[in-house]
Amino acid sequence: MAKGKKTVFFCQNCGYESSKWLGQCPGCREWNTFVEETVSPVAKNAAYGAGGGQQGKRMDPVPLSHITALEEERIKTDIEELDRVLGGGIVPGSMVLVGGDPGIGKSTLLLQVCGQLAGKGHKVLYISGEESLRQIKLRAARIGEFNENLLLLCETNLETIRSTIERTKPETVIIDSIQTMYNEQVTSAPGSVSQVRESTGVLMQIAKGMGISVFIVGHVTKDGSVAGPRVLEHMVDTVLYFEGDRQVAYRILRSVKNRFGSTNEIGVFEMQEKGLAEVKNPSQAMLNGRPTDASGSVVVCSIEGTRPILIEIQALVTRTNFGLPRRTSVGIDYNRVNLLMAVLEKRAGMHLGDCDAYVNLAGGMKLGEPAIDLGIVLAVVSSYKNKVVDQGILIFGEVGLSGEVRGVSMAENRVREAEKLGFTTCIMPKANIDAMQGKYQIRLIGVANIKEAMEYI
Ligand code: TYD
Ligand code: MG
Repeated sequence: MAKGKKTVFFCQNCGYESSKWLGQCPGCREWNTFVEETVSPVAKNAAYGAGGGQQGKRMDPVPLSHITALEEERIKTDIEELDRVLGGGIVPGSMVLVGGDPGIGKSTLLLQVCGQLAGKGHKVLYISGEESLRQIKLRAARIGEFNENLLLLCETNLETIRSTIERTKPETVIIDSIQTMYNEQVTSAPGSVSQVRESTGVLMQIAKGMGISVFIVGHVTKDGSVAGPRVLEHMVDTVLYFEGDRQVAYRILRSVKNRFGSTNEIGVFEMQEKGLAEVKNPSQAMLNGRPTDASGSVVVCSIEGTRPILIEIQALVTRTNFGLPRRTSVGIDYNRVNLLMAVLEKRAGMHLGDCDAYVNLAGGMKLGEPAIDLGIVLAVVSSYKNKVVDQGILIFGEVGLSGEVRGVSMAENRVREAEKLGFTTCIMPKANIDAMQGKYQIRLIGVANIKEAMEYI
């Protein structure tokens, strides 16, 4: 092996670095994800310098008070759901990672962004390493009209990409996808951890140096054959994940990191024949087609970022046919469901030990907010007792291990959203109710523990 080069083992899932091969990654606990890669010392330095983008300048410290920073001017894409998730639009010179499963709609969304920006007179360069010009044209034909401000390039070599960007001077660049790009200075294959990191480093230099906003597409991979977006989350300014079920039309764009805005903000889209359409009123969309007289169905309110979203939780509790009870959950943390069922067993005296339970979130959405706990509990109780929860009832509240219902943040926003969508009653934590009495038309019922809540079923 050439002098100055050494090999390192990288976890292809999370980027954990080790000098020897390991069966299980200590970082992310995945098995068989380590792959040997050659790293040259030169390339390594390049990546670390990339964050600053200030090489060659004199680096004297500056008093903070002397720095003038105007509120970042932002470029609006006019796709409101996206602008909000970005924190109000695209910040020039920022780097945005768009991650998601293959086929979820990343390329479609970004092509639509290109169309919007080009339509406003911005020069946009879309670089694809995955599809041919013809394929992109066919996709574009489904989406709509594009003018000559949108330039396409099919290329995977980063040096060529850099020189093209320097020559054409676009304001926004799309890289689709980072896993196909390669840097000649790095010997490992495209898609490997070191290649993905180095390529991002180079793009970062371009973004910060020339003030170009760069969108990077990254596929989420489970099999470990290509490095996932996780390994570069810390390098970029904003990380957006596109989630959803491919069978369900709704797609959720979620910001998990944002240097220029709040995180956990979501945008909701629907995949249609002509590309992605914005869903302006997600609560309405999520509740569409809700069964009106089925047991085990309740509506909860979760705050995603700054926005309340109403969504239906469905539970099906049946007797176990074989020895061990089966429990599954879709869209909700499986362990949380098990925990809440244990609380019901212990604190409300329900015998769920010989019951199967299936708990689903309708609409292909994933929620992790504890405020939906009480909804899960009541959905399970409703299905177990085969009693229908009135369809005008909205439920929210966190449930603790002793069965108490704890207060949640932004309770007023939830109540307001419920009122807006025509709900008549809110079952909510007692702790939240005092500040709200008398302010709303909707009937508010405060409960202190799950037993009290169960009386309303
Ligand atoms: P795509 O953007 O290629 O996904 P990704 O880049 O994340 O891999 O999305 C592909 C899917 O979207 C594909 O299954 C077809 C579907 N689609 C539509 O339903 N309508 C459309 O207008 C377009 C362009 C794609
Ligand atoms: Mg794609």
